[in-house]
Amino acid sequence: MVQTAGVILAAGQGTRMRSATPKVLHRLVGRPMVQWVVSAFEGAGIQRIVVVVGHGAEQVEAALGPDVETVRQPEPRGTADAVRHAARVLATGDGGEDVVIAYGDCPLLTSSLFRKLIERRRETGAVIALVASPADDPRGYGRVIRDCTGQVTAIVEEASATEAERAVRETNAGVYCVRADWLWEHLPAIRPSDTGELYLTDLVALAVAEGLPVQAIDAPLSVTAGVNDRLQLAAAEAILRDRVRQDLMRSGVTLLDPASTYVDATVVIGPDSVILPGTLIEGTTTIGARCTIGPHSRIVDSRLGDDVTVTMSVIEQAEVADQVRIGPFSHLRPGARIGPRVVLGNYAEVKNARVGADSRMQHFSYLGDAEVGEGVNVGAGTITANFDSETGTKNRTRIGDGASLGCDTILIAPVTIGPEAMTAAGAVVTHDVEASTVVAGVPARPMRRRRRGSSA
Ligand code: UD1
Ligand code: CA
Repeated sequence: MVQTAGVILAAGQGTRMRSATPKVLHRLVGRPMVQWVVSAFEGAGIQRIVVVVGHGAEQVEAALGPDVETVRQPEPRGTADAVRHAARVLATGDGGEDVVIAYGDCPLLTSSLFRKLIERRRETGAVIALVASPADDPRGYGRVIRDCTGQVTAIVEEASATEAERAVRETNAGVYCVRADWLWEHLPAIRPSDTGELYLTDLVALAVAEGLPVQAIDAPLSVTAGVNDRLQLAAAEAILRDRVRQDLMRSGVTLLDPASTYVDATVVIGPDSVILPGTLIEGTTTIGARCTIGPHSRIVDSRLGDDVTVTMSVIEQAEVADQVRIGPFSHLRPGARIGPRVVLGNYAEVKNARVGADSRMQHFSYLGDAEVGEGVNVGAGTITANFDSETGTKNRTRIGDGASLGCDTILIAPVTIGPEAMTAAGAVVTHDVEASTVVAGVPARPMRRRRRGSSA
C-alpha cells in the first residue's frame, strides 16, 4: 500500500525567466530543474509521485520520461488549483496517509528534508507540517506568520501582505506534508485570493481556524530557495555544482581546483581519478579509476576506462578503453571507439572510427569513418579523405593490424590497407593495398614486400 504520495507542481509558465523554454526544464548541472525535485522525492522513499504539468506540458512530460506520472492543469489558476488536479489521481482511497507537496522550481530540496518533514507530521499528529526558511531578503516569498506563542497561524503571500507582514523574515519554502484525508477534504474550500489565484498556502489558515495543529521545521535557503529568474537559476546552479563536486571528492576523486571543475550530476567517476583545472565533464559520461583528466578538457556523453589520460582535449560521444593517452589538443568526435593502450597525441581527430589496441597516432592526423586494426602506426599528418564531394557520401577506410602509414599519407576512401602493409611518406592511396606490401607515390603503387620489423 502507498503510504506517502508526492505532488510536484510544474504547470506554471515562469514568466520571470523570459524564456521560450518552460521554467522547470531549464537545466541545472545537466538535469532539468524539475528532475532534481523528482530525484529528491525518490530518495526520500515517497512511493507515488505525481507531477502537475500545464505550460509546455508535452515538453515537460517528454523530459520526465514515461516512468513519471503526470496530470495536466489546463489553466494556471494557482498552486491550490494545481494540487486539485493531482487529487483526480490521488484522492481515490489508496492515496496514502501523507501527501508531500513541493514546487518544481525548488531544485535544491533534499531527500533528508522531506524525510524530516514527514516524520515531524507523523510524530506530532499535525494536519500540516511545513518548512520555513529565515531570509535576510525575504522578497518574492510568502511569509510565515506566527502568534505570540510561536505557533504558525498563516502563510501570507507577498501580494496580499500588510506592511507589518512584509517585514517578517521567515519565508515559506513551499514544501508541505499534509494528512491526505484532510487535504482532499479541504482543498475545495480554498477561495480565490485578491489576485484571482487559488493559493495553496491558504490551507494553513484553514487548519488553524479549525483549531488543528500546524507544525513548521526550519531549513536554510541553500536548501529551499526557489528559482524564478535567471539570477536565481545561476545561484542554484552554483549550489548544486558544489554539492556534486563534494560528493565526487568524498567518493575518492581528486579535484585539484574544484571551482574551475564542472561535472554534471549524471556523471560517474572512479576512485583515484584526478581532475585538473578548467575541465568540464558532462551528460552520461562515465570515467574509470586512476584517470587523469585535464587541464582544460571537455568530455561529453562518453565512456572512459581505467588509467586513461586526457590532456587539453575534447571527447564527445566516444568510447575509450583502459590505459589510453589522449592529447594535448585532440578531438574525439561521435562514434570514436579507442582500444586499450592506444596513444592519440597532438592534434588527433577521430570520428566514427574504431582504433584497435596498441595503435599510435602521435601527430596531427584525421581518422574518419574508419576501422583501424591493432598495433597500427599512423604517421604524422595522415588523413582519411572520407568525403566524396561529387556524390556527397562518406566512405570507409580499413587499415589492417600492424600496418604502418608514412607521414602525410592520404587515404582516398573507400580503401583497404592490408595487415602489415606500409605506405611511404606522402603516399596518396587510391587503391586497396595488399597485406605486407609497401606502396609509395601519387597515386600510390606497390613497390615491394615489407621486410619484417621495418618502418616507414
Ligand atoms: C510560491 C508560494 C510562496 C512560497 C514560494 C516558495 C503559493 C501561493 N506561494 O510562490 O508562499 O514562498 O512559492 O518558492 O503557493 N504552479 C502550478 N500551477 C499554477 C501555479 C503555479 O503548477 O497554477 C507551479 C509553478 O510551476 C511553480 C510552483 O507551482 O513550479 C510555484 O509557483 P510560483 O508562481 O513560482 O510561486 P511563487 O510566487 O514562487
Ligand atoms: Ca517560485
